[in-house]
Amino acid sequence: MGSDDGRSILVEGERVLLVDAKERQYLITLRAGTSFHTHMGIIAHDHLIGAFEGSTVVGSTGRRFLVVRPTLADVVLKMPRGAQVIYPKDLAAIMVLADIAPGVSVLEAGVGSGALSMALLRAGADVVGYELREDFADRARTNVEALVGEQAPYRVEIRDIYEGIDERGLDRIVLDLPEPWRVLPHAEVAMRPGGILCSYLPTINQTSQLRNALAHTPFGMAATVEVLYRTWHVETRSVRPDHRMVGHTGFLTTARLLVPDPDRSPYNAKKYETAGDAESPSEPGLVSTEF
Ligand SMILES: C[S@@+](CC[C@H](N)C(=O)[O-])C[C@H]1O[C@@H](n2cnc3c(N)ncnc32)[C@H](O)[C@@H]1O
Repeated sequence: MGSDDGRSILVEGERVLLVDAKERQYLITLRAGTSFHTHMGIIAHDHLIGAFEGSTVVGSTGRRFLVVRPTLADVVLKMPRGAQVIYPKDLAAIMVLADIAPGVSVLEAGVGSGALSMALLRAGADVVGYELREDFADRARTNVEALVGEQAPYRVEIRDIYEGIDERGLDRIVLDLPEPWRVLPHAEVAMRPGGILCSYLPTINQTSQLRNALAHTPFGMAATVEVLYRTWHVETRSVRPDHRMVGHTGFLTTARLLVPDPDRSPYNAKKYETAGDAESPSEPGLVSTEF
């Protein structure tokens, strides 16, 4: 067994993931003197408290369960939610595309269940969230606190981002709401030059509308991606993609706030005016000097 300086010992009050023989997962919070009940048997929390993470425990019916601490992805998929959360594959991409790092100031809207907030805070960002619904905001705060604690640099305000942004000099704005183009006039004044705006949208119609709107703002370097995530079935004589996968979640669009160039206005308009040229083949990774 690997060395341990105490970090692997499970303690009362923390969340753990129980995994049964059929790989079903259960997220529970350890409380002394209580039990977890499933149709596969009962497990006393006292058998888990003090155990090593990664241990196997035996339930009342003799069935075995693995116990590990949940990852962020496990928590996002299993936590209580009001609004639909952003899937872990997209959360991961957002962290890279929006270049989220410790100390980066982020405005997030809408906050929903707090899944994106959790990923942003885990990456070290300072997060202000705007959310229309008080019940969702409360849910997000509870979910965030359970993961990163109440000291996290996180504040949620109940307000409509379409009506304006009070913050200034923001490094990033990350959006998961239906009409992000309505945020652009506010984002322009709330962000610092060079800042990154990132928007998650479920449909390509919305994405297209956002890209068109971006083309008439000081935002440039716009790009859109979709993340396809395929798991594999790996057993000795059977190694192949799994039959099922999450077919579609959403599209991610990023753009950067640029310093106005008096010789080129509006900023991305040419790209749209010459949309026919956009189909000409280009090599991935080729550095272009074209404007
Ligand atoms: C899909 S949910 C966000 C989920 C969140 N990204 C997560 O991962 O848990 C969209 C949220 O945007 C909020 N919303 C929609 N329009 C808004 C607006 N104009 N200003 C602030 N929040 C808004 C909704 O109330 C909803 O909670």
